[in-house]
Amino acid sequence: MSEMATLQVQGKTYNLPVVVGTENEVAVDISKLRAESGVITLDDGYSNTGSCRSTITFIDGERGILRYRGIPIEQLAEHSTFLETAWLLIYGELPTAEQLQCWSHRMTQYEMLHEGLYKHYDGFPSQGHPMAILSAMINATSCYNPDVIKMESAETFQSAAARLLSKTRTIAAAAYKTSIGQPLIYPKPEYDYCSNFLHMMFSIPFKEYEPDPDIVNALQLIFVLHADHEQNCSTSTVRMVASSGANLFASCAAGVCALWGPLHGGANAAVIEMLKYIQDSGMSVKEYVAKVKDKTSHIKLMGFGHRVYKNYDPRARIIKAAADRVLNKLQIHDPMLDLARALEEAALSDDYFKEKKLYPNVDFYSGIIMKAIGIPVEMFTVMFAIGRMPGWIANWKEVWEGGARIYRPRQVYVGPTEREYMPIGQRKEMHIPGISGEAAMRGGCQ
Ligand code: CMC
Repeated sequence: MSEMATLQVQGKTYNLPVVVGTENEVAVDISKLRAESGVITLDDGYSNTGSCRSTITFIDGERGILRYRGIPIEQLAEHSTFLETAWLLIYGELPTAEQLQCWSHRMTQYEMLHEGLYKHYDGFPSQGHPMAILSAMINATSCYNPDVIKMESAETFQSAAARLLSKTRTIAAAAYKTSIGQPLIYPKPEYDYCSNFLHMMFSIPFKEYEPDPDIVNALQLIFVLHADHEQNCSTSTVRMVASSGANLFASCAAGVCALWGPLHGGANAAVIEMLKYIQDSGMSVKEYVAKVKDKTSHIKLMGFGHRVYKNYDPRARIIKAAADRVLNKLQIHDPMLDLARALEEAALSDDYFKEKKLYPNVDFYSGIIMKAIGIPVEMFTVMFAIGRMPGWIANWKEVWEGGARIYRPRQVYVGPTEREYMPIGQRKEMHIPGISGEAAMRGGCQ
């Protein structure tokens, strides 16, 4: 008989099954609680909710451990490529040499976009944010591959997954080219995944970009480190959308939108903006840390803190060392790296950060490497999205194969109780910021 937890509520006792994961994480299964008792659980922001059982990624936030399919991130960062890691995440095991070759071949096979898709780029304004373009274009791609919408067999999934992963870099590079008003560059079949992306980003019609092995390796590392991170905001979004039966492309396009926010993937760009602000304002590190600690400033130290890690994020540790290496190799001296190091040191020795267990996360140093290899700041979150694609695909597959019930949280309603509909002439104006009074006049409601 497996272990049960006991819950007493409103004078009654309920027995709830205890579920133990393979890494001994203990959870109380409350899925039948409401049916038995009428009671739901409340967990604002899902800090304490296991939304699924998953075999993909394990994090121990207290010990700073991250493993994809059981393999420590440090080993993958040292030995693996992005494509190999993507296969591992999606299919559960490292690929054989033959599987990897076939997987790389598929990336080449699917690297081009339908010519009709290239025309969509003309419709975006040059200042359009590449994350908006990425999300829209991933969704649009499914219009040219209608079989991915039905996804009737495992074979359809294999080609849909390969197509999505391969085309994401082409779509992303084209989004960048659109934003700077340069002609879109076609992929080159002789290049590997990362070199091809760099070629599409940086080649121009009269000057081919020569992929530099140090830059290609740095990009591989960035993608590997971002490839999955269990039930974060964007991955949970992908699973949520997938649970309604929505196709892989639609679900991952939703993931891109969730990633965009500055508290999630958008933090990598926000870190650089923060460092630039400190540099330009002439503020000292100490003064900035004091500002962050002052709650009335509503400023956070971007690239610091994490819902799960209460220890150093292992990805940040790897990326920090890589930033040193890459900048040295490329013979770049970026004062922003010195500033980031000083900021980290100041924060880690400050009681506010110590007590709240706030450490650098993956976004703190990733922007500095991306900047060094020539990626513009507005593309940083797009880079995160390309890297995270294997994790989204793997999670989508887990939902699809598991035949999950639709994800449908409940709520505790705290709004008005029942009241009568009031005729328009009897209503009093309620103040709505940005709509009432002056603002309404300015907005043309006069
Ligand atoms: N700077 C200053 N204070 C912070 C920070 C920070 N970066 N992060 C958390 N805190 C404070 C927070 O104000 C709260 O204080 P109090 O208990 O006094 O109200 C306390 O620490 C606990 O934080 P929380 O907001 O309850 O933590 P959370 O789990 O809801 O949020 C987070 C996690 C990552 C959104 C948050 O730490 C944050 O906003 N960090 C900055 C943005 C960032 O770097 N995001 C990237 C996350 S890692 C990559 C990814 O997954 O995308």
